Amino acid sequence: MRLKDKIALITGSGSGIGEATAKTFAREGAAVVVVDMNEDGGNRVVSEIRKAGGTAEFLGADVGSTAEIERMIKFARDRFGRLDVLHNNAVFTTVGRIGEITLEGWQKTLDVGLTAYWYATKCALEVMLPKGKGAIVNTASVSGLAGDYTLGAYNAVKAGVVNITRVTGIEYARKGIRCNAVCPGPIGTPPLLRLEDARPDIVGRIREAIPMGRLGEPQEIANVVLFLASDEASFVTGAFFVADGGLWAHSGMPSLSGQGPEW
Ligand SMILES: NC(=O)c1ccc[n+]([C@@H]2O[C@H](COP(=O)([O-])OP(=O)(O)OC[C@H]3O[C@@H](n4cnc5c(N)ncnc54)[C@H](O)[C@@H]3O)[C@@H](O)[C@H]2O)c1
Repeated sequence: MRLKDKIALITGSGSGIGEATAKTFAREGAAVVVVDMNEDGGNRVVSEIRKAGGTAEFLGADVGSTAEIERMIKFARDRFGRLDVLHNNAVFTTVGRIGEITLEGWQKTLDVGLTAYWYATKCALEVMLPKGKGAIVNTASVSGLAGDYTLGAYNAVKAGVVNITRVTGIEYARKGIRCNAVCPGPIGTPPLLRLEDARPDIVGRIREAIPMGRLGEPQEIANVVLFLASDEASFVTGAFFVADGGLWAHSGMPSLSGQGPEW
């Protein structure tokens, strides 16, 4: 088991990538704190983990509030005595061109997607530093490495996540704490699957833009997070890992020979 006896907390783990990570961590021997503002999703994930023989606790919390973040770290410490792995993963996204985004939408995107990641890291460090060991994994995105139409606030947040990952990595590198990010491309989690139901044409074009010609599976991101959280990544810190079916490797330039991905 790759996370045997570790205590791990995952935000936004009542669905999608966080859910896959929670189940993967539990299967690999970790006790998992499932944090989500969606109580039904969080409770479902915990009961599925327990049914499979794993250890998990659910905490309903909104990571858009710093007080709730303090409560979530305290919950892990009270229940399990320490925290070995923090996976910052929850998200809120406002949609609109730069000139159309509202201040409220911008602020909430930053609160949930960036301030929460920094503040949870800050609180987790208080628990990890005395032990001289810990791993933090942040869910960034290829949207943190380049721009997307109508996702300006999300692009800013994910670029910020990539860079606070670097700073956390270098600042605590000699204290036993590693911090890394995963940058998924489009993954078949509920938000994208709902979009596919409503607008199959849009998701069809997204699939076409991915060199592998398909969406990623949540498990394919959980596998990367597992590696980064585990001791196998003992010399990896301040890094980001792209898992996107080749999307980010493409410049976006159409082929000069007129050949497409089927070539
Ligand atoms: N799905 C993709 O295509 C994709 C691509 C790149 C990056 N990501 C990133 O992956 C992460 C997970 O996304 P997903 O696709 O699994 O989404 P998802 O909607 O399936 O899961 C997100 C979970 O976060 C929870 N959440 C949202 N706001 C919260 C808050 N304030 N407090 C607590 N919980 C909250 C939701 O209730 C939900 O259960 C996000 O950081 C997202 O930006 C996703």
